[in-house]
Order: sequence, then C-alpha cells, then structure tokens
Amino acid sequence: MGKDVIIALDFKNRAEALGFLDRFENVKPFVKIGMELFYAEGPDIVREIKKRGHKIFLDLKLCDIPNTVKSAMAVLSRLDVDMTNLHASGASEMMKGALEGLTRPDGSRPLLIAVTQLTSTSEERMRNELLIDRPIDEVVMSYAKNAAESGLDGVVCSPLEAGKVHGVCGEGFLTVTPGIRFADGDIGDQSRVTTPAKAREIGSDYIVVGRPITAAADPVAAYERCVNEFVKGI
Ligand code: C5P
Repeated sequence: MGKDVIIALDFKNRAEALGFLDRFENVKPFVKIGMELFYAEGPDIVREIKKRGHKIFLDLKLCDIPNTVKSAMAVLSRLDVDMTNLHASGASEMMKGALEGLTRPDGSRPLLIAVTQLTSTSEERMRNELLIDRPIDEVVMSYAKNAAESGLDGVVCSPLEAGKVHGVCGEGFLTVTPGIRFADGDIGDQSRVTTPAKAREIGSDYIVVGRPITAAADPVAAYERCVNEFVKGI
C-alpha cells in the first residue's frame, strides 16, 4: 500500500475549495472533504472535485443502525469516492452492513476506515459521560480490532498510535493520521502533533494535513514538503 498525503479541504464553500485547488497545476493531491463542505455544497462538490482528477476521502463519520448506514454507504460508493469512514462505536454489525452497502456490483469499493475514539474525548470524559472505565489506549485498540475483524481497511488515529495499531491489527491495516505539523510550524488547536517525517518513521499509511498546507503562504510548496518528508523520506 503506497503512502500518501491527504489535504483536508476544510473550506466553507465551493468557491474557496476550488480556488485553493486551482493553485495546484501539475499535481492532483488526494483530498479530504468533511462535513462542513459537504453539507454546504452537497454531493455535487464531490463529483466536481472527482472530475478534476483528485482522489477523495469523504469524511462524514457515519453512525446509525446497520440498515441505514448500509443504504447511505451505497449512495456514497456511487459518488465514486476513494475512501470514507464511520464510527467504530456503531459496532460490528453496522460496520459489516457498511461494507456491504459500499461494495459496487463489480465487487470494487472505496476504502472504509473507522474512527475509534475522537481525539477530543479525554479519558476522564469517557469515564464520566460514556461510563467506559478502561484506559483510552485499550479502548482505541479494542475498537480498531473490532473494525479489522469486521473487514474494514483501517482506522483514523493519532500518528503516535499508528505503530501500536499495526502491531494489534497487522501491518496491512491502514492508519490514517491527522495531527501533523511541520517542525517549525504552529501547533494551533491540535495537542499531540507529529511531523510528516516522524509519521513516516512510526508507520502511518496516510497523513491528513489541513492548515499547515491550506493556510501556508505557498500551499503547493507546503504540500510538496509533506510529500518529500512523508512519502519520499527526504
Ligand atoms: O488543520 P489540521 O491539520 O489540524 O486539520 C486536520 C484535519 O483532520 C481536520 O479536518 C480535522 O477535522 C481532522 N481530524 C483531526 N483529528 C481527528 C480526526 C480528524 O484533526 N482525530
């Protein structure tokens, strides 16, 4: 499985997102479309960006009863995205339903990855509000294992957890990791961050990078720097 850099298109509308992508003339980066852009512009934004030649990770984090998720995933697979996701907390029957829904008549399907615990959920909140008493690390690994056993392709996790996830679920199980910052860059609102080079070293398969690229003075150069550090190891 080839490593790649995924740019988080955290823009509020079509004009901003396409204006940003117009800056990339010679390369078509893999991009992540999240809830904000999708809910603002609907499925057309996915078709349009796909038509421009980009691979798309549609980050909608589905979680509902198995039948509903299965039907929704069938719609997403017809949108021809390359990767999408759901919450592992929806449990194995939902994850298996999602895979069925995603699978196209020709047997192909987008990659399906699971969110384990959101990084915004602290161990304290998990204990006090979700009534889960186990250490968060154990919960994340257990959710990842459920996802792997349900047939999913990987998880979204901190790059710092990527090595451990591979240890528990196998090297072929994908780790898609946000929380990336350049060594000389701003951390912003992320707390546990890693450089692209370090993420490569730990074994992430895909890094998801937002502001270090989208807010850079030269986004194309920032993207290339990520590719050099993470994909090429230079
Ligand atoms: O701008 P930044 O690089 O922090 O963007 C990271 C992207 O990854 C955002 O789209 C954010 O929503 C997403 N993400 C994250 N942490 C998670 C899951 C997703 O930062 N645990």
